[in-house]
Amino acid sequence: VVPRIGIHDLALATSHYALPLTALADHHGIDPAKFTVGIGQDVMSVLGPDEDIVTMAAEATSRIIERNGTDGIRTLLFATESGIDQSKSAGVYVHQLVGLPQQVRVVELKQACYSATAALQFAVGLIARDPSQKVLVVASDVARYDLGSSGESTQGAAAAAMLVQADPALLTVENPAGVFTEDVMDFWRPNYRSTALVDGKGSIRAYLNAIGGAWEDYRAQGGASLEDFAAICYHQPFTKMASKAHRHLAVLSGANPTPDEVAAYLADTMRYNRVIGNSYTASVYVALASLLDHHEGDLTGARVGLASYGSGSVAEFFGGVVQPGYREHLRVAEHTAMIDSRVMLDHTAYEVLHKTTLPEDGREYLTARETARPYRFAGLGDHQRRYERTL
Ligand code: CAA
Repeated sequence: VVPRIGIHDLALATSHYALPLTALADHHGIDPAKFTVGIGQDVMSVLGPDEDIVTMAAEATSRIIERNGTDGIRTLLFATESGIDQSKSAGVYVHQLVGLPQQVRVVELKQACYSATAALQFAVGLIARDPSQKVLVVASDVARYDLGSSGESTQGAAAAAMLVQADPALLTVENPAGVFTEDVMDFWRPNYRSTALVDGKGSIRAYLNAIGGAWEDYRAQGGASLEDFAAICYHQPFTKMASKAHRHLAVLSGANPTPDEVAAYLADTMRYNRVIGNSYTASVYVALASLLDHHEGDLTGARVGLASYGSGSVAEFFGGVVQPGYREHLRVAEHTAMIDSRVMLDHTAYEVLHKTTLPEDGREYLTARETARPYRFAGLGDHQRRYERTL
C-alpha cells in the first residue's frame, strides 16, 4: 500500500521592511493603479541589511521545529535562486541555526522559481521508501531587479518551510504530476550579477506556454479535470500573472471564464503574495498558505492544484487533497502578525537599502543591527558569512 504523503506543516517568514507600491509609483510618476490593478501588487517585502535568504529560512524552519520537534527528520532540501555561495548550501547554515541533529543530510536545489516543487516531489519519494522519515523542504528567495527597471515593482522576499511526511495534517500530494521543460532565456541571473535580467513580456509568454505544457502532460497521464479543483495555487511573480495562467488553463480546457470569475476563484490564494511580492521558489507555497489561512468554507477533502513555474524553464502541475482537521494546524495569527509588523519604508530609505552592497575582498564587515526578526546576518570576515540569533 502506498502511504499517504504530503505537507504536514507550513510556515512562512518574510523581511523586517516593506515598501508600499504607491511610493514606487509616486517616485517614478506612474499611475499607482498600474501596480495595484495592472499587476495586482500592493506592497513588497524588502530585506534589511542584516537579513538574507538564510535568516528568513531559519525563522520559518524554527517555527516548524518548535511545533513538531526533530524526530524522524533525516533530510533538509533547500530551494533557492538567490544563492549566497557557489559551493556551500544555504541550508547548512539553517541546519546549525535551528539546531537540527547531525544525522540530517542537507542539499540546495536550483531551477529558478521551480526548485521547491522538485524538492517536494523528491521528499515524497524518500518518504515512500521509508515512511518513518520526514523531510524539511525550505524555499527562500529575494526577488531583486535594477532600480528603474520594469521588474522593479515585482520585487519581494519570503521563505516557506514545509514538513513533509506520511499521514500529513494539511495536504496529501497526489499522482500524477505533469511536467514541462524548455530551454528559453526569459529570466536569468549570471554569476556576476546581484539583480536578475528579464525579458518581461517574453517571460509572461514562456510562463503561460510552460504551465500549459505541464497541464497537458498532467491530463495526458489521467490527472483530474479543471472543474475537479476547489482552488489552484499558481506561482505568482505578481498576482495578476496567476489570473493570466488560470485563464490559459481554462481556455485549454474548453471554458471561457470572465475576469471577475477568475479573480473570485483565485482571490484567497493571492492575499499574502499581494503584500509580500515575488518570493520566487516560495511563491507557490505562499499561495497555498494564503488559501488555507483565508478560505472561509471548509476545504476538507477538497482537491487543490499547485502550478509551479521556474524561468529558463521548468513547470509542473500536480494536485493535493486537503486533510480533515487541517484548520487546527494552520498559522493564521503568526503569518498575519509577521506581515503586519513589517516597518514601511519611504522611497529614499528603500533606494539606500537597494544600493547597499557587501565588500568582496574578505575584510571584516559588520551589518547594521536593524531586523526585529529572530535571526540576523551579522556580517562578513575572512570571506565567511556570520549569523546570529536576536531573540
Ligand atoms: N491602470 C490599470 N492597469 C494598468 C495601468 C493603469 N494605469 N497601466 C498599465 N496597466 C496594466 C497593463 O494593461 C498591463 O496589464 P495586462 O498585462 O493585463 O495587459 C499591466 O498593467 C502591466 O503593464 P505593462 O505590461 O505596461 O507593464 P510593464 O511592461 O512595465 O511590466 C512586467 C510588466 C513585464 C511583468 C514587469 O513587471 C517585469 O518585467 N517583471 C519581472 C518579470 C516577471 O515577473 N515575469 C513573470 C513571468 S516569469 C516568472 O514567473 C518567473 C519569475 O518569478 C520572475
